[in-house]
Amino acid sequence: MSSAYRVLTALELEGLSDPSSEFAFDVLTGLAESPKRLSSRYFYDDRGSEIFQQIMGLEEYYLTGCEEEILTEHGQAILAATGDGPLSLVDMGAGDGKKTLLLLDRLAASGRSCRYLPIDISEAAMAGLTGRVQDRCPNIAVEGVVSEYFSGLQWLGHQPRWPTAGTTEPTILVLFLGSNIGNLDRPRARTFLRRLWTGLAAGDHVLIGFDLKKDIEVLLDAYNDSGGVTASFNLNLLRRINRELGGHFAVDRFRHFSTYNVFSGAMESYLVSLDTQEVRIDRLQSSFTFRAWEPLHTEYSYKYLLADIERLAAESGFEVVSQFHDRRAFFVDSLWRVKKG
Ligand SMILES: C[S@@+](CC[C@H](N)C(=O)[O-])C[C@H]1O[C@@H](n2cnc3c(N)ncnc32)[C@H](O)[C@@H]1O
Repeated sequence: MSSAYRVLTALELEGLSDPSSEFAFDVLTGLAESPKRLSSRYFYDDRGSEIFQQIMGLEEYYLTGCEEEILTEHGQAILAATGDGPLSLVDMGAGDGKKTLLLLDRLAASGRSCRYLPIDISEAAMAGLTGRVQDRCPNIAVEGVVSEYFSGLQWLGHQPRWPTAGTTEPTILVLFLGSNIGNLDRPRARTFLRRLWTGLAAGDHVLIGFDLKKDIEVLLDAYNDSGGVTASFNLNLLRRINRELGGHFAVDRFRHFSTYNVFSGAMESYLVSLDTQEVRIDRLQSSFTFRAWEPLHTEYSYKYLLADIERLAAESGFEVVSQFHDRRAFFVDSLWRVKKG
């Protein structure tokens, strides 16, 4: 007799999930909290990804330039640390992949077998990136995934490590660049990295971009640029709710505010309501009251000391191979190797 129940696998459930209802549910619950909050991952709709590319070109937003410098100066050493056999390069939250191309160009020129596997929730970013890599590095196999980090990794985990039978199994290098790790507080960063560790084998590597603690004025300027680009990136979250969920936010009745919390070591971004207002969101069949000067939290960006990075690596099962920083020591790309007992 066949059983009267069915065990659903995580992947089957994943197939049923609808990203737009997840967004709707998170807005519903986040705006009902006190203080109100929305996850920074919702910044990156197509328009948000476009604005973020402008942010990366800003003088004040030093992070991109620092990481470009590191990958230009130390790209060779980073890749050499992973050996010279076939490589699977997984790029988590790849964005426009401009900095990753610095590594891909070297790989393409060296003739080393390489498969490039970017993961990003933004389809616009992924479409642009995969096209660019295919044009520029035709000898590199590209297979992008539009998904959340771990759904993407889970999917990749179900693919053969390397598609060509008979070749040496590739080593994996996971990139997590651009200070994406900074969006997570320390306990969540540890859990995230432990989860990443679980899907990797001993000897695989990860390269993580950490923004370092520094002069607070430099930090404040980076998140409050004079041209207001970061403000429009933050406010786009309200526009996204208007577009996708039938929201009625009057965006000019909110202002962007970013500050540094010396105790937690994080830049914190908010949207502050300029007066008392009630905002209806049709798809949620709900209205939300904002008091005058009430903040809506939208992002954390945690800053690190080198010692914090070493502790985080040890706590999540990795050993630090090398810490590569830029000339001003503003930013670190930290290369870790997976240790398994
Ligand atoms: C700060 S940008 C960094 C882009 C790129 N890694 C770089 O260093 O220039 C963050 C990228 O991560 C993606 N992202 C954010 N949260 C994500 C998530 N939960 N899962 C997958 N991608 C995510 C965004 O769409 C965006 O392209």
